[in-house]
Amino acid sequence: MSERWTPDSWRARPVKQIPDYPDAKALADVEAQLATFPPLVFAGEARNLKKALARVAAGEAFLLQGGDCSESFAEHGANNIRDFFRVFLQMAVVLTYAGAVPVVKIGRIAGQFAKPRSSPTEKLNGIELPSYRGDIVNDIAFTAEARTPDPQRQLMAYRQSAATLNLLRAFATGGFANLGSVHQWMLGFLKDSQQSRRYKELADRISDALNFMRACGLDLEGHPELRSTDVYTSHEALLLGYEQAFTRVDSTTGDWYATSGHMIWIGDRTRQLDHGHVEYFRGIKNPIGLKCGPSLKPDELVRLIDVLNPDNEPGRLTLINRFGADKVGDHLPQLIRAVKREGKVVVWSCDPMHGNTITSTTGYKTRPFDRILSEVKSFFTVHAAEGTHAGGVHLEMTGQDVTECIGGARAITDEDLNDRYHTVCDPRLNAEQSIDMAFLIAELLKAERGGKAKPMPVAAGL
Ligand code: PEP
Ligand code: CO
Repeated sequence: MSERWTPDSWRARPVKQIPDYPDAKALADVEAQLATFPPLVFAGEARNLKKALARVAAGEAFLLQGGDCSESFAEHGANNIRDFFRVFLQMAVVLTYAGAVPVVKIGRIAGQFAKPRSSPTEKLNGIELPSYRGDIVNDIAFTAEARTPDPQRQLMAYRQSAATLNLLRAFATGGFANLGSVHQWMLGFLKDSQQSRRYKELADRISDALNFMRACGLDLEGHPELRSTDVYTSHEALLLGYEQAFTRVDSTTGDWYATSGHMIWIGDRTRQLDHGHVEYFRGIKNPIGLKCGPSLKPDELVRLIDVLNPDNEPGRLTLINRFGADKVGDHLPQLIRAVKREGKVVVWSCDPMHGNTITSTTGYKTRPFDRILSEVKSFFTVHAAEGTHAGGVHLEMTGQDVTECIGGARAITDEDLNDRYHTVCDPRLNAEQSIDMAFLIAELLKAERGGKAKPMPVAAGL
């Protein structure tokens, strides 16, 4: 892979999971139009994120990455974005305060539209149609027309990403994320739950600490870290034509950046060494992720790292592990040992969602909260045994009160799934389950640090 790279050099390679567009000219027209549109993110922001992730790789911070499995056109609205942002901030504050660790926040948002599928078609009542591949490709309705890939949807996805990012930026810097408002991030429907009481206690302690600092004469207004926060965006860069259109040269460095999101990742189904996705990713300078599932062999991982991060730059590569609760112990130690042996610097992150999907007795695709937690716990246990940092988590979650994953403190049952099962793709942790998970992870982080001589530096802000 030492040949010259260009934003379109992936086109000369085989690619998996790219939809069949019936009208090649219409697709090319859309891609040409996208290439004239403003970038969604700047190279400088991607570099800042890379620096923040380098701290995670060094064991000095924790990565919280999360959001919808797949964003939807129908559910695009300010309330959804606000509620997601609130829950995400609550989780970050729980991890920062209870876990005493700086948290790097990356949303699976503002671009997370394309879905890889295990089967290219779906059969229903004897009719076979193309699978739904996310709103950026086709529509979920089961008709031939709806399922035909339509390039115009890429324009829509770009506009939705821009509007979402605009609101996220406003929330992050416009006062909403002020640590003094820590009580106001609580969602109304959570008011009487066990999580909200626990969260309120923690928020009270933060307010007390802020008041104490104020009483000591510290000028809190003079600290932007307390008034605003950094939120980054990420998605699986599956549709390489779309990504190519947003691949731009950074004028300050002359390097190529993906400007569709701060971080993009390669899915578990598209990480073949000689295929188009790996080719595309090797040429852009953003921080990137690589999903690592049970079929990934240690030597294959090392070769992928050589291609994707030849300079061994800290913060460039996050390995997102998704083995399944019962498989972590079999797979993760060998990967960690291979990476350590080769002296590679990576962020280890745990996606406890994608290896733990089951079908409920009532016929829904679901994930048991206990299995999700069990994978996270094993992830921490393996890292403790190997002497490496359990760097982060990657969650599918929402700020809404949905019933998609079973279990959790409020014990959602198979029968409850029918009540508010709203996802268009994979089941997500709801707001309460997400906050619950953050408290449980904070305990694991505390335990991780307990075993070390050097405490982690405590973050000034969020
Ligand atoms: C996803 O993150 O939604 C996904 C499809 O993951 P994976 O590539 O790990 O299967
Ligand atoms: Co998913």
